[in-house]
Amino acid sequence: MLEATSRERAKTLLTASGRSDVPPFMVMDVMAAAARIEASGGHVIHMEVGQPAAAAPKAAIQAAHAALDNARIDYTSALGTPSLRARIARHYRETYGLGVDTERIVVTTGSSGGFILAFLALFEPGDRVAVTVPGYPPYRHILKALGCEPVLIETSNDNRHALTGEALLAAHRKTPLKGVLVGSPANPTGTMMSREALSTLIAAAASAGIRFISDEIYHGLDYAFPAVTAAELSNDALVINSFSKYFCMTGWRVGWMVVPEPLVRPIERLQQNLSISVPTLSQIAAEAAFDGAAEMEEIKRGYLENRRILIEGLPRAGLTKFLPADGAFYLYADVSDFTADSYEFARQMLEKAHVAATPGLDFDPIQGERFIRFCYARSAQEMHDAVARIAKWLK
Ligand SMILES: Cc1ncc(COP(=O)(O)O)c(C=O)c1O
Repeated sequence: MLEATSRERAKTLLTASGRSDVPPFMVMDVMAAAARIEASGGHVIHMEVGQPAAAAPKAAIQAAHAALDNARIDYTSALGTPSLRARIARHYRETYGLGVDTERIVVTTGSSGGFILAFLALFEPGDRVAVTVPGYPPYRHILKALGCEPVLIETSNDNRHALTGEALLAAHRKTPLKGVLVGSPANPTGTMMSREALSTLIAAAASAGIRFISDEIYHGLDYAFPAVTAAELSNDALVINSFSKYFCMTGWRVGWMVVPEPLVRPIERLQQNLSISVPTLSQIAAEAAFDGAAEMEEIKRGYLENRRILIEGLPRAGLTKFLPADGAFYLYADVSDFTADSYEFARQMLEKAHVAATPGLDFDPIQGERFIRFCYARSAQEMHDAVARIAKWLK
């Protein structure tokens, strides 16, 4: 009896919190199924994970080697090393012609670390924050885990999946919003917001006192037109970026934010307490990564070619409906002519054609069953092979 009681007590102690009850990434299921096929000798073309196949810039790797040989890897300042922060500020001057005070740059543990700091600094538990669907799932899951309420606003193909000021204000009128987060180029759609769309949205948010967060992780990977940074349009916008995508440094876990001046000190205090500082070796490598721009531009040209292969090839294979692939390295295809269940479609495509892609439900709980996402960050040959395999399978 006594034993049973303590077992009960242990069970209560081990019950996970409600806030930790966030959905898993379905893409992980696809990856596990792909691994099973590979273990039994199959060759899978991986288009499921949003990760560059290329390595970090050579300059970054060399800088990390040199640092390991020559320096102690100590904690850094919570806001990041002064030299990396200054280098990021220079990046804004060189890329966007924009002067940004180095003091407003905060180095983060990937953009993922940036979301946590930004949401904690901007919102109280219970605050409602608008995010677009389809969209990157951790936006809503991190908000939920922090006790905020993500408010899903559907976007449409009519305006390249850009959230409009009217849609934002309409949601705000229903129940007041405290913030809004948008990404351009976007994951999973690959669509981008024009300068006009972004400035109108920022102005609408400002008019209603809604705090604005811009995820710019896919900047640099823009094909349709140059990506515009929200930092250029408003000093009150909080910008999040990362070395993961353009610089091919996913596993290094380093990113940055441009934060409104009054938030610098609160974010510094949060970072001091939550993680002390961002991994030092990664900060050293990230600073050197900017010297690898020529190498990265070559990789970007590869994505552009992959995009061309898919845009031309997928319709021949039978997939005719997809959104404008303006940027990033994604193509979001409507497969509703074939199925009402894109999870099953992705499962079959993996099983029969050995092409792995991500079901849309990961990104869109409302309409995701109609879509799958292809990532085209691998070789051109793999893109040709994927098109051929899908064509054969769908016939
Ligand atoms: C839109 C978007 N934002 C943020 C991230 C997180 O990237 P990281 O934490 O590696 O910077 C990703 C990763 O896929 C993404 O697609």
